[in-house]
Amino acid sequence: MPPEANRTPRSARIEARIAPDALAVVRRAAELQGRSVSDFVVAAAEAAAHRTIAEVQIIRLSVEDQRAFAAAILDPPEPAPALAAGTTPAVTAVSFRIEPLGAAHDRKGFCCGVAALDRYLHELATQDIRRRISNCFVACDPAGTVAAYYTFAATGFPLADLPAEEAKRLPRYGMLPAGLIGRLAVDQRFRGRRLGGGLVIDAARRAAGGDPAIFALVVDAKDEAAAAFYRHLGFRPFVSRPMTLFLPVATALRAVRAAAAAAEGA
Ligand SMILES: CC(C)(COP(=O)(O)OP(=O)(O)OC[C@H]1O[C@@H](n2cnc3c(N)ncnc32)[C@H](O)[C@@H]1OP(=O)(O)O)[C@@H](O)C(=O)NCCC(=O)NCCS
Repeated sequence: MPPEANRTPRSARIEARIAPDALAVVRRAAELQGRSVSDFVVAAAEAAAHRTIAEVQIIRLSVEDQRAFAAAILDPPEPAPALAAGTTPAVTAVSFRIEPLGAAHDRKGFCCGVAALDRYLHELATQDIRRRISNCFVACDPAGTVAAYYTFAATGFPLADLPAEEAKRLPRYGMLPAGLIGRLAVDQRFRGRRLGGGLVIDAARRAAGGDPAIFALVVDAKDEAAAAFYRHLGFRPFVSRPMTLFLPVATALRAVRAAAAAAEGA
């Protein structure tokens, strides 16, 4: 089956003007591929859009931030108490199930008070999952109400600018893999129950259990209150991009292990 056969039907329209010379080149290229001009233009635009998104998802850091990131790899910090609290079974296992967003989840009533985050879950998350741009996980209460969600996608940090002497102690990869929590939101009815922290712990568990290695969780805070929340959980801001913060997966897993050991000893 050709890939196009699985696609959403084309119902939207774009219009654009093009210089006659450029159109002649596009016609020629379309002919070479045996496609109509409009098919060729749509396919080329879509491929360029995917490339642009992939490039933006690579996070470029200042040398100072590369150094801080490298130091955290070599010596992951201890988990913050608020992060450790997110591992409590009441959040992660018993009261709420955390699972991939699916067609059966009724998300219409979800309201975190930030219109863009609500709209994303109501209208856009499914499309991003289908296109494999980002996954989305939801926390549901026993009645099935979606109480919280987060999105999770691959990202990477090039550590290209460190002096050879410092880079010597690091794994020999140009790019360090990370997991991006692009959005995270808790419905207003479910605030203050450690669900936000619980979702971060869930992301760390998935990062640790996934096949491609992931070294750190990275978040894009949408405002200062969100950044304060993440700092409270032990995320560290990059100096050159204070609204982007990171947490080594090893640090979060220490919190998970400590909670498991405490539960066994109890
Ligand atoms: C920020 C948000 C996710 C917190 O969710 P929550 O489930 O109420 O938070 P938790 O109960 O897990 O809180 C964990 C800890 O963070 C603290 N905390 C919560 N919000 C905080 C904030 N804005 N600043 C600092 N600390 C915060 C809590 O007091 C708790 O600390 P404690 O264990 O020391 O008492 C939620 O308020 C929300 O959805 N806000 C709107 C959307 C948003 O800002 N998303 C952020 C990503 S863009």
